[in-house]
Amino acid sequence: MYPFWELPLFTSGIVIALIATFHILPCHLATGAFWFNVYIEKKAIKEKRPELMEFLKRYSLLILVFCFVIGSLTGVGIWFAATIASPRAISGLIHNYVWGWATEWVFFIIEIAAIYVYYYTLGRIDEKSHLMLGWLYAWAAWISMIIITGILAFMLSSGKWIETGGFFDGFFNETYWPQLFARTSFMLGIAGVYAVIVASRLKNRTVSHEIVRKAAVWGIVGLIAGALFSVWYLSKMPEAAKELGINGGLPYLRQMLNMAGGAFILVLAWFIVCGLIRPSWAGTYSGILVLVILFLGIGAGEGFREGVRRPWIINQYMYGNQIIGTDLAAKGVKSEVNKFNSEGFYNNLYFRPDNLDLSLKEDRRKAGRVIALHQCGNCHALDRNGIMRPLPVLLKNIAPESPEDIAGFLEALGDYPFMPPFSGNDEDRAAVSEYLFWIIRR
Ligand code: HEC
Repeated sequence: MYPFWELPLFTSGIVIALIATFHILPCHLATGAFWFNVYIEKKAIKEKRPELMEFLKRYSLLILVFCFVIGSLTGVGIWFAATIASPRAISGLIHNYVWGWATEWVFFIIEIAAIYVYYYTLGRIDEKSHLMLGWLYAWAAWISMIIITGILAFMLSSGKWIETGGFFDGFFNETYWPQLFARTSFMLGIAGVYAVIVASRLKNRTVSHEIVRKAAVWGIVGLIAGALFSVWYLSKMPEAAKELGINGGLPYLRQMLNMAGGAFILVLAWFIVCGLIRPSWAGTYSGILVLVILFLGIGAGEGFREGVRRPWIINQYMYGNQIIGTDLAAKGVKSEVNKFNSEGFYNNLYFRPDNLDLSLKEDRRKAGRVIALHQCGNCHALDRNGIMRPLPVLLKNIAPESPEDIAGFLEALGDYPFMPPFSGNDEDRAAVSEYLFWIIRR
């Protein structure tokens, strides 16, 4: 185990969720936007309509700034935050997918170079070459999505990988294709939202309304296709994930799904009303409002996808607290649960306080705190006022009368479908129970 990244009140999960929510909108825009851009550019060339160029200029500048400043910063932020929050999980993913990421980064570099060249050569080089740059960007961006989706999907449904340990066995897993199709459709829908907003601000009203209508059609088709593929995706989720997320195992996940559905309906209605019927209503204000709705809807949808994975961080392999829970013979990896149960968890920690004497109550509590951080801290705050599922409050609800009651509760922790079992021997359980009993009353 690596040292634990402790954030009083906040927990690491909240930090990652916040950064990721700000990342998802720019990254889907980045992958979707240029399909619409190229479509308009082709039209401008074929029908000899230079007035459409004004839109291309503004739209690609928006993508350049929004996606490659906010998107890149938050992308790096996710890597930093996830690496210190769950170093073993990231290490597990890198050991399997380092070449996947390397390939993705090649396409990122192409994408970033292409958009700069595209923007700064607009109207300065011959039309055909410029259009080629647009295509280059569109394909490079989409290919990066094709790759990253495999790794994202792997974390929820690890496919045959759990038996073979093979790269492609995990990559092309049960939820890969539905998720790729859903993301591809939604990226076109999101591109439509931004295109409507940019086009609504063009001075030439005729051109403005024409592009707003076209973008709205893209948006509507993208959203509806995305919703259909999402239903396919939900049907392909592992049974345990369906129980948690759809059938009420964890009611808040169902609420997140409903929230994403609500946002979907509002954005669709906006496309129909402010895009198709009355393009003059699609101004800055309604645009900002719809962006906020989109932001909340996507955050809820991705939160749902992350949430149904519990108790695993990598399905069937590593628990949310980073303890390996399965034998993976193909890779020579053994489950750590039995090892910690027999040898003790605290004894096996490398980074731990020096010189604790576990026969002293005070020291046992300190050791218990370290164990609780490692085994519960990724999902629970230890402070009463903590934002994410504060343990003092939750434990108080089950009304333990002594540390032994808590030890009994821990023994059955794995019976909850969303929590990993407690891994450790009697000594560990005694120490952590004393600590937990103490924080309830503190
Ligand atoms: C992988 C994430 C995860 C880990 C690790 C985890 N929990 Fe939980 N725990 C949850 C979730 C999710 C809930 C449900 C909370 C809710 O209903 O909103 C929960 C609920 C609880 C509850 C309330 C149970 C009830 O019936 O009301 C307690 C108590 C609890 N956890 C204690 C612990 C302790 C102690 C540990 C560490 C030994 C731990 N949890 C580790 C995710 C986790």
